[in-house]
Amino acid sequence: QNQSKIDSILSLMTLEEKVGQMTQVTLDVIGEGDDRFSSFEPFNLDKKLLTKAVKEYHVGSFLNTANNRALTREKWYAIISEIQNTVKTETRLNIPVIYGVDEIHGATYTAGATMFPQQIGQAASRNPEMVKRGAAITAYETRASGISWNFSPVLDLGLDPRFSRMWESFGEDPYLASVLGVAMIDGYEGEDNYIGHPERVASTMKHFLGYHAVTSGKDRTPSFIPQDVLREYHLPPFKAAVEAGSHTIMVNSGIINGVPVHANYDLLTALLKEELGFEGLVVTDWADIENLHRRDRIAVSDKEAIKMAINAGVDMSMVPYEYERFFDNLVELVKEGEVKESRIDDAVRRILKVKLALNLFETPVTYYKDYPKFGSKEHEQAAYEMAAESITLLKNEKNILPLQKKVKVLVTGPNANSMRTLNGAWTYSWQGEKTPEFSEQYNTVLEAVQNKIGKENVKFVPGVKYIEEGKYYEEVKDKFDEAIAVASEIDFILLVLGENTYTEKPGDLNDLYLSDLQTELAQKLAATGKPVILVLNEGRPRIISKFEKDMVAVVQTYLPGNYGGDALTDVIFGDVNPSGKLPYNYPRFPNALIPYIHKHSEEQKKSEGVYNYEADYSPQYSFGDGLSYTTFEYSNLQLDKLTGKNGDKIKVKVNVTNTGKLTGKEVIELYTSDLYASEITPDVKRLRKFEKISLEPGEIYTVEFELNTNSFGYFSPRGEFKVEAGEFEIIIKDLKQTYVLTE
Ligand code: IFM
Repeated sequence: QNQSKIDSILSLMTLEEKVGQMTQVTLDVIGEGDDRFSSFEPFNLDKKLLTKAVKEYHVGSFLNTANNRALTREKWYAIISEIQNTVKTETRLNIPVIYGVDEIHGATYTAGATMFPQQIGQAASRNPEMVKRGAAITAYETRASGISWNFSPVLDLGLDPRFSRMWESFGEDPYLASVLGVAMIDGYEGEDNYIGHPERVASTMKHFLGYHAVTSGKDRTPSFIPQDVLREYHLPPFKAAVEAGSHTIMVNSGIINGVPVHANYDLLTALLKEELGFEGLVVTDWADIENLHRRDRIAVSDKEAIKMAINAGVDMSMVPYEYERFFDNLVELVKEGEVKESRIDDAVRRILKVKLALNLFETPVTYYKDYPKFGSKEHEQAAYEMAAESITLLKNEKNILPLQKKVKVLVTGPNANSMRTLNGAWTYSWQGEKTPEFSEQYNTVLEAVQNKIGKENVKFVPGVKYIEEGKYYEEVKDKFDEAIAVASEIDFILLVLGENTYTEKPGDLNDLYLSDLQTELAQKLAATGKPVILVLNEGRPRIISKFEKDMVAVVQTYLPGNYGGDALTDVIFGDVNPSGKLPYNYPRFPNALIPYIHKHSEEQKKSEGVYNYEADYSPQYSFGDGLSYTTFEYSNLQLDKLTGKNGDKIKVKVNVTNTGKLTGKEVIELYTSDLYASEITPDVKRLRKFEKISLEPGEIYTVEFELNTNSFGYFSPRGEFKVEAGEFEIIIKDLKQTYVLTE
């Protein structure tokens, strides 16, 4: 039905109207004020500029919102309605605008919205149902701003802790990213992908493909990814998401094997559209067509860049500013025969398809008053629960945690009293909300601890603070000596270290060690002899090996969102039993950045080396680590058959018993290991299945997994998938069984 509507709209469109549909501009192009860089700047729409964009240039899409603290939801509704109304009154075909935004961990640009942990924390929860529920709430609250397109989820692998956007991923494992990516898409779009529903949004798989795999660790620098690596690790989450029906996809801003992805026909058309059969819309990342000329120098002019990108398979350009140039050049290119009109028609069909699916022709803007659950207690509770399930207990010497509530505590560290650092970037503004800090509605770690054990039992001395003033990483002492002195007056030290917020280029890093000042603070506090509980609030694993041994407990919070302070405090004082699991290997040294998916030659402990006795490749903590206040025992790992042939299914069972005294949640992870492979060195082990369960003390649960022999396969250097006969280990915790594939 939509197909015939698309045909009839397309048949009425001029070339100019079509090219306009392929154009996306940022909000401040049509007004005055700041759209995404500040959460405090007011924004005023300029009717003349708006009319020029939609009437003269037929602009079909906008991004970014000014629905921030300077603007109420009512005023924002007036702005977004004005945009759609101008299309209605001023344009010939009345094709509604599609409005996109990065609401990547909640309706992040809207004051009062519900803020979940960032994706890296969601991955630690290992709870697909929760991820789905969080995305459904985000969709609802995004629609409450009249916006129907969300640039989320990130399906790139968080493989490299040097990379500034690791925390935007589901961590390093392709299977985990596939399962959680699909859960998030199901939450945004519904399992049936019916996005005409006024509480759902179109999702965006990003950033296709291999964006995080940069050789230098720096944002938007080259990657070298051979076919087998691309298909074995980077492609699966996107393949799963395309199969789950996600409507749109955003292109990787970087360069793979020398070719910018925005100019890569093989990736965007041959692989994505033809091989994977993706029928939705491909949007560029920010200014990435002009970057082909201005940054990457693969095109001699802006016009050449547009030709390359559109011919490679881009459907919509996130221009985002000088849209007139994009428009004029693309119209000319079609007239000159450099871009075929059939390619333009294909792009416009894909765009109209999403607009129709979103029901924008009937309801271009949803009304905020129709969303009474926006920021409700129910939504808040879901965000709190996800934060609680994501928090990962990495070390707990002598079971020092949980703490009793009748204790005196020093709360210290630059992240101890900051809502900004709990949320991370893409929160109220691109780099996260800057000063003044806001904590009226939510609790920082300090406030949550004060609420839990009484203000009179809590001393707060920052020790170190971040300074802003245009810089993201400057740190200075703030009552440093006082923090050390106060230690004598208390029982425990809660040291909250980590990072200030960042994303993209501003988050590029020169040193993966946690800063010198924070390290010194940790060392000096430990030297007081008082037990130091280290709380990490960071987007990527900053190296702590210089002082980790002196910490009695280590708790990773990632970027847990607005309820992270409360959730952490509930874990510290035993009201929540922790159940988060690390979604990456936490490195011990900056020169040993080895993910858990690695080869046998990448395993070496100190003193085992033949030539270099100092070399230690082992991580500080491993993928899947995460302690509980109770204990679990695994027993009786059984396969329904120990041998078989390609195509068979294998049933795997294991018993898990809660042998401790508390109710607790456990994540059961099944790994496989290919002992020998003929064309590619096999990985030591790979995650194939997981399940999170809750057990009462003494309770036994039998977990059952079904494996497919594809779990034993791999991609050859030519990119062909192979399953070879041989021996494979099936591993759950410390238990192993060997399975033999005969043919
Ligand atoms: O969606 C983002 C992308 O992840 C990074 N560049 C800007 C886009 C739009 O804000």
